[in-house]
Amino acid sequence: MSDRSSPHFSRRTLLGGVTGAAALGVTALGGSGLAAARASSSPPKVVDPFTLGVASGDPLPDGVVLWTRLAPDPLNGGGMPTRPVPVQWQVATDERFATIVREGTVLAHPESAHSVHVEVSGLQPRREYFYRFRAESELSPVGRTKTAPALGAPIDAVTFSFLSCQNFPAGYYTAYRNMVDEDLDLVIHLGDYIYEGPSQGTLGRGHLPEVEVRSLADYRIRHAQYKTDADLQAAHAAFPWLVTWDDHEVENNYADEESDPDTPPAQFLARRAVAYQAYYEHMPLRRSSMPTGPDMTLYRRISYGELVDFNVLDTRQYRSDQPRACAPETRDPSGYCAEALDEGRTMLGARQRQWLLDGLANSPARWKVLAQQVPFAPMDQDADLAERSFGGDKWDGYVADRQRILDLIAQRQVDNPVVITGDVHVNRVCNVPPNFTDFDAAPVATEFIGTSVTSGGDRTLNTRYDIDPNNPHLLFRDNHHGYVRCTLKHDQWVADYRVVDTVEAPTSPIHTLASFAVDSGKAGAHRT
Ligand SMILES: [Fe+2]
Repeated sequence: MSDRSSPHFSRRTLLGGVTGAAALGVTALGGSGLAAARASSSPPKVVDPFTLGVASGDPLPDGVVLWTRLAPDPLNGGGMPTRPVPVQWQVATDERFATIVREGTVLAHPESAHSVHVEVSGLQPRREYFYRFRAESELSPVGRTKTAPALGAPIDAVTFSFLSCQNFPAGYYTAYRNMVDEDLDLVIHLGDYIYEGPSQGTLGRGHLPEVEVRSLADYRIRHAQYKTDADLQAAHAAFPWLVTWDDHEVENNYADEESDPDTPPAQFLARRAVAYQAYYEHMPLRRSSMPTGPDMTLYRRISYGELVDFNVLDTRQYRSDQPRACAPETRDPSGYCAEALDEGRTMLGARQRQWLLDGLANSPARWKVLAQQVPFAPMDQDADLAERSFGGDKWDGYVADRQRILDLIAQRQVDNPVVITGDVHVNRVCNVPPNFTDFDAAPVATEFIGTSVTSGGDRTLNTRYDIDPNNPHLLFRDNHHGYVRCTLKHDQWVADYRVVDTVEAPTSPIHTLASFAVDSGKAGAHRT
């Protein structure tokens, strides 16, 4: 970005900077809070508690959330004493912490797995900052973050990448290893940050514990295992993140209180509560997202000046159960199962839906982003041109809620809505038609679907730009791994599909496989 105030901050300098910053910080961070804690008793010392790295998230014009978790023994319950531990934090304008602009002390509590979420305020808009933590005599790695532009401020460009689906046993995080060298304002994670299953893979990165996780202790170990990855840590330390979840943070294909396969709702909600708790503990989220039992408010809106509103959606917690598959002869003439067309079904829940509709109708931003999980545009899955069929876990199983959004966009002339999507482990670009049947009609929105970071592992590659006669609104299909880098300007959105050669080796080259643009004022993408 043009206002970057420090030299390019590569993965190498970030990781290499830890030692130097640590040496500096011992004197800079000699606070009274720790001394007081030591004076009260003589508990065992905490050694190397920053095994899970640091992170920042949910940037505002005047602040950001800083995150870490103290876990000297991350794969065995954390290894912390069962007492609160003071954690000092600092924010500086320079990597060497010569100019500290905010600092303080918070307590890391055992009931939150000794995670800390510091909501820093009083910072300058659209400015790069560096942060670190200290617990007892131990200093954390240094993270870099960046605040959002001032509300409504004119800005020339925003660049972010979005990712999803990072199954740990399925591959190395070669995408993250490359992504840290990008020049990004923000990273958006669209879910499947962890997988709950017992898979072990073949790369020596098998899931811990070696069972499907169901308890708070086991979800914590699973999150910790993912966070021990050096490439993932570097990506968190390099940029602020905006996170939302999909299903595997709890259980495959769950829907609100409905488990799949079915378990009694009360029993499933108890599991959802511990999964949400562990998710919150490991993400740079604000207190407004702190869970209460099985409920956690994750949908929220982040604005970047007058250029873009990110509407971060939660398509799991409030949705109706997936429609049952129906036999071809019982399908509606449109190809949908009758249940999928039921007006009473919901993907977002009434409250989130109204919040989104109000936000879209009233947004002054140039680009309105729906950052969410499952494919939004309709997708005929029947290869026979004369037949249509539509899947149930995606928006195709929740036609009424999707139509309410599309109708609002059309009626209120909401310009430049763009959906970014994860979930399906493939890259796609779709023009979003105005309804669930007329795929040739002029689009009202654009959808960029991003592939998985690792999920699915290396596979036979297949990249297609030809028109699928069943889905003429589908412009691009591909199954590399990687992420999507988006550069937003006033007149155009450009999405670069960044792909790696392999996830089954620790390192891989990366390149841009394809780029698609959306011109402001005209829904739909074209290849550049
Ligand atoms: Fe996934």
